[in-house]
Amino acid sequence: MNLQGRDFLTLKDYTSEEITYLLELAADLKKKKKEGIPHDQLKGKSVALIFEKSSTRTRCAFEVAAYDLGMHSTYLDNKSSQMGKKESIPDTARVLSRIYDGIEYRGFGQDIVENLAKHSSVPVWNGLTNEVHPTQVLADMLTIQEHLGDLKGKKLVFMGDARYNMANSLMIGCAKMGMHFVACTNKDYFPNSELVAYCQAEAAKSGGSVSLIEDAMAAVVGADIIYTDVWVSMGESEAVWADRIEALSPYKVTTQIMKTAGPQAIFMHCLPAFHDMGTDIGRRVEEKFGMNELEVEDAVFESAQSVVFDEAENRLHTIKAIMAATLGYKR
Ligand code: CP
Ligand code: NVA
Repeated sequence: MNLQGRDFLTLKDYTSEEITYLLELAADLKKKKKEGIPHDQLKGKSVALIFEKSSTRTRCAFEVAAYDLGMHSTYLDNKSSQMGKKESIPDTARVLSRIYDGIEYRGFGQDIVENLAKHSSVPVWNGLTNEVHPTQVLADMLTIQEHLGDLKGKKLVFMGDARYNMANSLMIGCAKMGMHFVACTNKDYFPNSELVAYCQAEAAKSGGSVSLIEDAMAAVVGADIIYTDVWVSMGESEAVWADRIEALSPYKVTTQIMKTAGPQAIFMHCLPAFHDMGTDIGRRVEEKFGMNELEVEDAVFESAQSVVFDEAENRLHTIKAIMAATLGYKR
């Protein structure tokens, strides 16, 4: 498998064999890291990490992964770089390509990262856009393998805003890997019908399936994975909270939902999560709407079925695999 020179912009661009290879490489690199075996094969290379939105996991994973592979990294935020304000995306891509061996981008529209990749002569990796979050899904797949064995045939129920990056990327990933993806939400929050059609066609080839359902209790029976994400994503206005709470409250992951799913089910969340009053936004929502937990109950988040911190750790190993594979690391 040779992925050298490839961009990583959406899982749509990757075959199931390529995704499997990246997961195997990530597991390998994770083992090396745990055993203290150096894997700094990319010594001398450098990567640029552009973040137009905030991040804890993705930024830290890219920085530490780059360090472990022997690379230098530069963090660029939208305040301190010229990108978008004084310098266009194509110019930024051409400048950074002359200096760096790879570029990560987190920001708004998918068209921005696609444009960056079009004008860049080095690999570009998508660290989250409004539309997709493919590095997260690779970490989620590794976590599912670790807890449940195979991906094939597993049923993943996504509850919440299924029109946004997380649900979109999970749906693409599940469809490619022969999994059963269920978007369980209010019909106004179902994913885009074109993307659903694309994923249903992929699922038909892989033996998986994609379905949309509004009845939460019916949707979760027999699920292997219950997955949720925040109801209001980065870059959205706080004014949408009232509508989201009204429409999505029936899709909160509760102990009753986990019980209905069954003891085999694991709980997943890309994080950050509103499961208690430990955040500014959480406290503001509590003051305004009287809710002290949002998309997931604290009891579920803290339960033995929750694997959220395994997912967070696996961001490091899977992001490392993406950079390694596309920059010519030899296994
Ligand atoms: N899950 C995730 O992407 O987290 P950050 O926003 O902290 O990077
Ligand atoms: N949907 C969330 C995902 C965060 C990792 C957001 O875009 O803010």
